[in-house]
Amino acid sequence: MGSILVTGSSDGIGAKIADVLEGLGHDVVRHARDEAKAARLRAAGAGEVVVGDLASLAATRAMAAAASALGPFDVIVHNAGWLPPEGPRPVTEDGLERTFQVNALSAYLLTALIPLPSRLVYVSSDSIVRGRIDLDDLQHEAKWTPDSAYADSKLAMTAIAFAFARRHPDVRVNAVHPGWIRTKMSGHAAPLDVTVGADTPVWLAVSDDPGTGDFYHNRQIVHLNDQAYDQDLQDALLERCAALTSNG
Ligand SMILES: NC(=O)c1ccc[n+]([C@@H]2O[C@H](COP(=O)([O-])OP(=O)(O)OC[C@H]3O[C@@H](n4cnc5c(N)ncnc54)[C@H](OP(=O)(O)O)[C@@H]3O)[C@@H](O)[C@H]2O)c1
Repeated sequence: MGSILVTGSSDGIGAKIADVLEGLGHDVVRHARDEAKAARLRAAGAGEVVVGDLASLAATRAMAAAASALGPFDVIVHNAGWLPPEGPRPVTEDGLERTFQVNALSAYLLTALIPLPSRLVYVSSDSIVRGRIDLDDLQHEAKWTPDSAYADSKLAMTAIAFAFARRHPDVRVNAVHPGWIRTKMSGHAAPLDVTVGADTPVWLAVSDDPGTGDFYHNRQIVHLNDQAYDQDLQDALLERCAALTSNG
């Protein structure tokens, strides 16, 4: 039994991942966006909860420090994610496009700042099929739509995961599409329950079967977008993330 951090575990798939892992006997540290949500988790019986809005670099750094103080972790599940609504291009207090910051850059920064566990799981999405990493317009300044911002950010997160897998062969690192799951993000029309959505992330966190550097859906390896595997692109993206966060 180990110690496991699950980001975005106040709701949806992340909450289910945390519950299932706890049920398996692991010590789970949860993560909530703000103190009010953390208080609700604690009132419901959660153990340790770290707090941080991943749309803020300062809050993400503070969360990494709080989590590091509770570590070291055996596994970190990067599950937090955000689907932007229709509307104008959202920009954070750091001046960054919000979808990219929450879905990709924060996962980079947390991975860089929290001592490496023996496993990293990145909850991505099959939307990466239509994603594109454009280093000249990572933040969609030229053209922004919610769908492309989400797909591109999830593809960037996946490429970041695969870069870490290459750089840290002693760490088991994988990305996963959880399925089209009924949550606040996907709504009631989605066909599958969070139990299904949590299944492969939990399996990647605890089973000895998976290797490293792959993308999984339903416990099977799938290959959805060549860009995720492009090592030069991965390296360039990590460099860009390091510059944007001042964290090399
Ligand atoms: N549901 C699907 O069909 C589906 C499909 C493919 C991939 N995914 C991925 O699965 C993961 C979980 O999604 P879900 O469906 O469970 O969505 P959800 O119910 O909206 O949960 C997302 C989690 O991420 C947290 N989060 C979002 N923005 C945050 C921020 N700025 N700072 C801190 N935490 C933040 C949320 O916190 P709050 O509760 O405070 O909002 C929540 O705990 C996401 O990465 C998503 O992209 C989901």
